[in-house]
Amino acid sequence: MDLQMLTPDEFARFASLVYDRAGIHLPPSKSGLLSNRLRQRLRALKIASFGEYYKRFTNAAFVEEELPYFLSAVTTNETYFFRNAQLWNTLGEKILPGILERNGRTARTLKVWSAASSSGEEAYTVGILLLERIPDAARWTISVVGSDISQKVLDRARTGLYNDYAVSRTTPARVSRWFDKVDGQYRVKDEVRKLVRFQFHNLRERFPSGGFDFVLLRNVLMYFDAEMKRKTIANVCEAVAPGGWLYVGDVDPIRTSSELVGCMPLQPSFPGFYQRALSTSAADSRKELVRG
Ligand SMILES: C[S@@+](CC[C@H](N)C(=O)[O-])C[C@H]1O[C@@H](n2cnc3c(N)ncnc32)[C@H](O)[C@@H]1O
Repeated sequence: MDLQMLTPDEFARFASLVYDRAGIHLPPSKSGLLSNRLRQRLRALKIASFGEYYKRFTNAAFVEEELPYFLSAVTTNETYFFRNAQLWNTLGEKILPGILERNGRTARTLKVWSAASSSGEEAYTVGILLLERIPDAARWTISVVGSDISQKVLDRARTGLYNDYAVSRTTPARVSRWFDKVDGQYRVKDEVRKLVRFQFHNLRERFPSGGFDFVLLRNVLMYFDAEMKRKTIANVCEAVAPGGWLYVGDVDPIRTSSELVGCMPLQPSFPGFYQRALSTSAADSRKELVRG
């Protein structure tokens, strides 16, 4: 196969498709990266050139069928278990006790959303942390949902199988407690897996359910332009329960960005953490945001 590059026209068309569908902004400097990533797709489809692949995108039926693979090829999915120890310590020590205290008085339910979960390490890390921190976890209804726009990473997440890199920052004690070694890989134990499920979701859209006690939105806003960041923050905040929490990242992209000033309806707390007031409903804060 000819290892050609996308022409400027082809790149512009693909970049605009990526933006329309995923909100991901690809500047022209990413043309080489996009060419490299799409080459694998061409091989899989046995298409000889970018020109031919590009032509097929004029056919709406092809676009719909190809889109999940195309978006998988353009997203960056870096992740691993227990990424950023500080986050997990704050969550376990400062955030979770309050949630357990409040929810323990009522239905003993706990709902967490890992938005942009990639191949699942983040969502399973939440599951492990909850089992470690909740002594009577069996008496709680715990659900962790991981969502992503890439079908490829969602499929991997559902297998619960990981390589050495994925667990490289996980303590040996945790690896032996929460994983089974299967054919040289690490399989998340069933007691964790049964708490966690995965589903397709595009952060451009509102999430189909809400009332989450805790939401993680990490390492994804940086791929979006200001408009998409604002839309994503509004959609995600809406899904946070009254009194619930949102974590946006190790270097908080909201407080460090002038273009995002005023777009966060929740109250800042620990670095990177925001909390919804107990008295405001999701609908109220969306209205506040629209007014703001
Ligand atoms: C770098 S990974 C972050 C994984 C994990 N949150 C972490 O911090 O370790 C970014 C993920 O965002 C997903 N993503 C990109 N655009 C998205 C969108 N519009 N909607 C949902 N997920 C998106 C990508 O597919 C990718 O898996």
